[in-house]
Amino acid sequence: MGLPILSEGIADVETEGTMEDAIKLDLFLRTGQRVLFLLKEFDAKRPDELYEKISRIEWETIIPEDGYLCVTSSVETPEIKDSRFANLKSKDAIVDRMNAKCGRRPDSGPKRDRTVIHLYWKERRCQIYVDTSGEPLSKRGYRRIPLKAPMQETLAAAVILATNWKGDGNLINPMCGSGTLAVEAAMIGLNKAPGLLRNNYGFMHLKGFDKSSWKLLRKKATAVAKKGLNGRMIATDISREAIEAAERNAMTAGVAHLMDFRLCDYAETPIPEGSGIVVLNPEYGERLGEIKKLEEVYKGIGDFLKKRCQGYKGYIFTGNLDLAKKVGLKTKRRIPFFNSNIECRLLEYDLYEGSRAVKKVEAISP
Ligand SMILES: C[S@@+](CC[C@H](N)C(=O)[O-])C[C@H]1O[C@@H](n2cnc3c(N)ncnc32)[C@H](O)[C@@H]1O
Repeated sequence: MGLPILSEGIADVETEGTMEDAIKLDLFLRTGQRVLFLLKEFDAKRPDELYEKISRIEWETIIPEDGYLCVTSSVETPEIKDSRFANLKSKDAIVDRMNAKCGRRPDSGPKRDRTVIHLYWKERRCQIYVDTSGEPLSKRGYRRIPLKAPMQETLAAAVILATNWKGDGNLINPMCGSGTLAVEAAMIGLNKAPGLLRNNYGFMHLKGFDKSSWKLLRKKATAVAKKGLNGRMIATDISREAIEAAERNAMTAGVAHLMDFRLCDYAETPIPEGSGIVVLNPEYGERLGEIKKLEEVYKGIGDFLKKRCQGYKGYIFTGNLDLAKKVGLKTKRRIPFFNSNIECRLLEYDLYEGSRAVKKVEAISP
């Protein structure tokens, strides 16, 4: 998006820009969870020092006094055992200052649907941010019906981006569950900004929020989105509840017209002539009994990819690397991901056509 990358961590990127840039990131970022805008940085050793330094920030120019404030934090400092205490101290510093300056103060609480201030406190270093996203960006607004073990929208987008699928060729998603991978893929294929579906962000609850520039930005984002795709999109699942939820979610996201949904076993998924990607997110099980049953499923997925999906690229997203070995196909790439604290892999398989037969191998470490 043309912004400089100042540093990259395992789950964060630091850049430099204006509040307008932060708002653009909220609208266009597919894989970010939230966009934090740095207000102030200082050292603090104790909670009273934190309170005093937060009180120096001109909150009356940032937060509406008749609004609602939520303070979140990430704290790793020996002085603080419970980060809720740091939240409370920070919130008190903000509202006490506002009371003194405006004679009023915003309400406060845990809801993240209005102004959100984030404290990052590591050792002595404190950073105070506005969380311009408010609710995390993974909450796009289209998934009204999440089912069991749904993938976060941001993770699903990251998975599709890692496949390099950009809307050319078919996209087949057996075991689609609530349809998150298919919906994110459709939005990527259409070049549709993921934030267009949402109408509430943290930045809207800051003083000086310019509604007309936001409207203009949304208009521009809508204008660059395509109306259709070249390839076909097919999403299937064995559960009726899942297919109904996926259809409903796709409809809310405005992409249902691009998709064929079908209630069937993954192995019966129609695979159109041509090429593209086949992407599956099977369950990975927790208990031993479940895992035993899933071994057969993973083996079956290997056969399905090998026999039915020639000419396509196959992808399996899983958090169980032992089960992944049961697929029995040679992996071309193994892309690491974290699904919350579970280490996962996106496994890529080249499914050659005809003479370039798919090699079936016994056990491959993922
Ligand atoms: C981990 S969930 C997929 C979650 C999905 N990525 C989402 O974001 O909602 C796995 C899905 O596989 C489906 N499933 C399990 N066994 C199946 C089978 N034999 N054929 C087709 N679908 C199956 C389940 O109904 C479930 O919806």
